Order: sequence, then C-alpha cells, then structure tokens
Amino acid sequence: MSKIEYFDMLIDTHAHIYSEDFMPDVDEVLQRAYDNDVKKIILPNIDSGSVKRLLDLADAYPHLCYPLMGLHPTSVAADYHEELEAVEYWLEKRKFYGVGEIGIDLYWDRSFLKEQQDAFRHQIKLAKSYQLPIVIHHRDSFDETYSIIQEEQDGNLRGIFHCFTGNEEEAQKITDLGFMLGIGGVVTFKNSNLPEVLKIVPLKNLVIETDAPYLTPMPKRGKRNESAYLVYVAQTVAKIYDISVNQVAEITTDNARNLFGI
Ligand code: NI
Repeated sequence: MSKIEYFDMLIDTHAHIYSEDFMPDVDEVLQRAYDNDVKKIILPNIDSGSVKRLLDLADAYPHLCYPLMGLHPTSVAADYHEELEAVEYWLEKRKFYGVGEIGIDLYWDRSFLKEQQDAFRHQIKLAKSYQLPIVIHHRDSFDETYSIIQEEQDGNLRGIFHCFTGNEEEAQKITDLGFMLGIGGVVTFKNSNLPEVLKIVPLKNLVIETDAPYLTPMPKRGKRNESAYLVYVAQTVAKIYDISVNQVAEITTDNARNLFGI
C-alpha cells in the first residue's frame, strides 16, 4: 500500500486485534499499523472470555493499544448478571479508556432483547459513574438502542455509535445527542449510502475505525481486516468531504483523543 505523509497520526477507534484471528501474527499486524501511521488503537472487549487476551495485548503495547471494558450484546444470555459482575470487577481493578462494546444486536438473535436492554442500561450507568465514554453496537437495532441513549443522556454521556451505516435521520439524531459516528470499511463499498448521508454530518462528530478482523475496506475486501487498512477509510472520508487526508487525520484524531482522553 502506498505510504502517505500525515501531519497527524490516525487512531483506529475500534479493532479486535486481540482476537484469535490475529494469534499467529499479532506483532506484525501492529507493526504494519504503526508503519501506516495508525499509532493508537482502541480495543473494545467482548466478554469475560476475551479479557485475558485483551489485557495481555494492552499491557504488551501500552502506548499503542487502549483497552475498553464491557459486555458485547451478542454475549448477553441467561448468565448475563455474572458477566456484568466481571465487567464491574475489572473496571474497579484497573484503568480502562471507555465502556464497550455495549448495546443491542437483533441481527443474530432476538430472544434476549430484554436482557440486552438491561445489560446496556446497567453498563451506561457504570460509564457515568467512572466518567468514561461508551462504544455502542447497534446492529439491526437503531431505534431500541437510540431510545435508551435518549433516556440516559443527562449531559454527561459521551460516545460513539460504532459501525454507523444508517440514514440521514439517524445520523441527525445521533449528533443531536452529542454522540459521534464511527465510520469504517462500509464507507468504501460501492453500494454504500454513507457518502450521501455524511453530507449532513459535521466532521466534529466523526471518528474512523476498522472493526478488524471484520468489515474489510476496498480494495482489500475479502481478506482479514487489520488496523493498517484504516488508511483506506481515511482516504474515502477525505473524498466525501473534499478535504485532504491530512485534514481527516488531524480532525478525527483530535476527536478520538478528546473522547477517550488519550
Ligand atoms: Ni466490535
């Protein structure tokens, strides 16, 4: 991939680099990220089963990898109270940069909707008490997720609607609540409506992400995603806003730094 000179670094605000998909070559993956100016990576947790790998990686790369603590909605099942206890234990025990990823997922399974809503509310309260931002997963569940955020927004809640792929009305609702849109590989897809929708979204409400190993951007689509490919997302965002990649880097990095306090 061609090297671009930035005035500022890029921050990948959402990547699961600690996942098993990266076990064989995680050091090379992080080196490639660094060499492509992705110099900070936010790592959202999944559940109690992923914490060890998450923290091992964050401890091995303390100035590159920044861990979040949370219970992912697809891991919310009958035992979710126990999982939430683990989240509370870890938040108490060490430093995290946010609560995530949390939210509601109605794509894979609708049967635990009530439990997902309860877990989401509970973790929003934790985020408030630790004064941390939240990273929201809202697959096929914008209305359900948004209504909880609207109820809970008391002026102190901040965060990202991660992997935003919605319409203009949804984008407007998010920015009206003071939240950010996390834009990833989908923006590079030919059939994406995001270039049109982003026209109403101010750059101050934008952060960029890979969601690695998922949602690989063009022209790498079909391969495993990794943080180095954030460059392609930044290039596409630059085209949409008709600004330079340097400006995208500067603004989105500033947004991410302010949100996560890094
Ligand atoms: Ni994720």
